[in-house]
Amino acid sequence: MRVLNAPPVADVPTPAFVPGPPGTAITIRGLTKYFAGWPLYQDFNLDIPKHKIVSVFGPNGCGKSTLINMIAGLIPIDGGQILFDGKSLADTKIGYVFQNYREAMFPWMRTIDNIAYPLVIEGRSKPELDRRMEELVASFDVKFDLNRYPYELSGGQQQTASIMRALAPNPEVLFLDEPFSALDFEMTLFIREKLQEVFMQTGTTMMLVSHDLEEAVYLADEVLLLTKRPTSVAEILRYGDPRPRTVATLTEPSFIHAKKRSLEIFQREVRR
Ligand SMILES: Nc1ncnc2c1ncn2[C@@H]1O[C@H](COP(=O)(O)OP(=O)(O)OP(=O)(O)O)[C@@H](O)[C@H]1O
Ligand SMILES: [Mg+2]
Repeated sequence: MRVLNAPPVADVPTPAFVPGPPGTAITIRGLTKYFAGWPLYQDFNLDIPKHKIVSVFGPNGCGKSTLINMIAGLIPIDGGQILFDGKSLADTKIGYVFQNYREAMFPWMRTIDNIAYPLVIEGRSKPELDRRMEELVASFDVKFDLNRYPYELSGGQQQTASIMRALAPNPEVLFLDEPFSALDFEMTLFIREKLQEVFMQTGTTMMLVSHDLEEAVYLADEVLLLTKRPTSVAEILRYGDPRPRTVATLTEPSFIHAKKRSLEIFQREVRR
């Protein structure tokens, strides 16, 4: 059965793949995705830079989650190509942090075993595994007891553990879909800082979906602003204030300008 309105993907000749500029982590070419016969993405092209944080921002339902889920291989694409530094997803190590941390951890495993799980799956030796866990605990400066079960931890502690688990195997790219939206303000600030620290230590490429413009800009090297569906890139806004960014950053003219510009583009797209 062919989906109504969907183009006969198999009949369309695949155009030559044009790689991104040097330093590109993810290259997306001709990406097409239909839901219920209607296009969400059609011939969508994008280059995601390496060792940067890209915040994804756009109108409700424009396809922010779908975009990172397609890149992360969680949902299938209908057409196009996505390559990681020239490689397929199968040859690339990625991490993913879900919005709903309560459903992301295995409840029957202690927190420490949840975090170590990807390393166990990779077949790492016990000494290797212990070394990596020590490193992670140190870099996150964990103050809570990782021997507890996830349900014994606060929301912020659980989300910290989810981020540690996603980073445990040293992924090339970390995807985060609204990782702070189920947390209270204090925890959001705490994890935001942790994420920035880890990024400064490791330079892990990150794609972060956020519905909070201030947060999106604060963490970003680039803000990817999307249009309403069928979704395209409205603009890619570069924001280059030095890290670590702090509370003082929030009142810097450069930050205020980046936020204002993002908001203008967002409003233009919502009204369109
Ligand atoms: N499995 C699905 N079946 C049908 N439509 C879907 C499915 N998943 C998503 N959609 C539709 O695709 C569009 C994009 O959804 P997506 O969740 O990616 O948006 P989003 O930008 O993350 O939204 P939000 O801001 O609400 O988180 C929406 O219109 C949604 O209704
Ligand atoms: Mg979403």
